[in-house]
Amino acid sequence: MKIKDNTKHILIKFLDYLKEGIIVVDGDKNIEFINSYASSFFKENPVGKHFTEVVKDSYLYSLISYEDKKDRKVEVEIEDKKYLVNIYYIENKKIIHLQDITPFEVYKQAKKDFVSNVSHELKTPISVLKSVMETLETEQDPHMIKKFIEMAQKRINQMDNLVQDLLILAKLESKEEKIQKQAVKIHQLIDSIFEDLRHLTEEKNVKLYNETPDNYTVYVDEQKFIIALKNLVENAIKYNKTEGLVKVYSYQQDNSDIIVVEDTGIGIPKESIPLIFERFYRVDKSRSRNIGGTGLGLSIVKHIIEAHKGKVWVESQYGTGSKFYIKLPVEKI
Ligand SMILES: Nc1ncnc2c1ncn2[C@@H]1O[C@H](COP(=O)(O)OP(=O)(O)OP(=O)(O)O)[C@@H](O)[C@H]1O
Ligand SMILES: [Mg+2]
Repeated sequence: MKIKDNTKHILIKFLDYLKEGIIVVDGDKNIEFINSYASSFFKENPVGKHFTEVVKDSYLYSLISYEDKKDRKVEVEIEDKKYLVNIYYIENKKIIHLQDITPFEVYKQAKKDFVSNVSHELKTPISVLKSVMETLETEQDPHMIKKFIEMAQKRINQMDNLVQDLLILAKLESKEEKIQKQAVKIHQLIDSIFEDLRHLTEEKNVKLYNETPDNYTVYVDEQKFIIALKNLVENAIKYNKTEGLVKVYSYQQDNSDIIVVEDTGIGIPKESIPLIFERFYRVDKSRSRNIGGTGLGLSIVKHIIEAHKGKVWVESQYGTGSKFYIKLPVEKI
């Protein structure tokens, strides 16, 4: 291949733009060239020095010292990152090309975790349904039959909720779903959410208070915003105490609309606070599953609010109650 001298200079500059590491080692194992990206693998400027003096990481050390003159591809971990490493031998030089594949690995792991979580969530209701069916085949007592049917219904609802939540998440994640904002009166919206969820308040006699101002308007995608607020109010009821209170209020602050869903419930332990917006996370798995939760609600809330360029967070006192905040940039359309 023929190449002009000034083109060589441009190619070398180009190698510095790459978000991949290139290291050239000569036959005596002296470092002959590195691009900018690869400099983080060395203690100091390594060019002209023997690799044993300058290489920081033991994996890279062995990659350079290993000598079988065969081109190869390996995966290695260097300082918490995973790299795909291509090794080429050209003339008497060894060329090491490192690509950071950490994001891909994280994605692969998330996908694996997701499938195993969904399967796990389906396993319990399916096995309960199986044994209910078996029992119903022989059960004669009408009272027991009614009890078993109720048990089956509860599990079917649980699976239905999971599938609904998964569909909402899938829709939110597909980029086709656009946020369509319109002016929405928050007071009326909260009233209708309270009506939908009123039946959940009966068991513990939880009281709901809509303290949002009458004409308070926010600019949101109404359908999606209802899903988000409904999840927060539902949690505030579900994780409340007997005779507990749920209050929703709103105000403006620093050019943002703040909406707060406050409860006097069981609260969230400090160590769980950073985790509760993660998919499938529940503070107390067995209790939550009994209540029917799958741990997807808050990750849906986060998705929806972030799609509105907003933020959602929680302040909570374990044993006393929680306040979930939604912050939306004020905008007019
Ligand atoms: N208001 C609250 N008070 C106390 N704990 C809460 C509250 N809201 C959420 N949590 C905790 O955070 C966890 C995650 O909530 P999330 O809404 O994501 O899932 P879930 O309610 O268990 O299931 P679902 O998918 O049906 O909403 C809950 O399991 C619960 O432990
Ligand atoms: Mg929930």
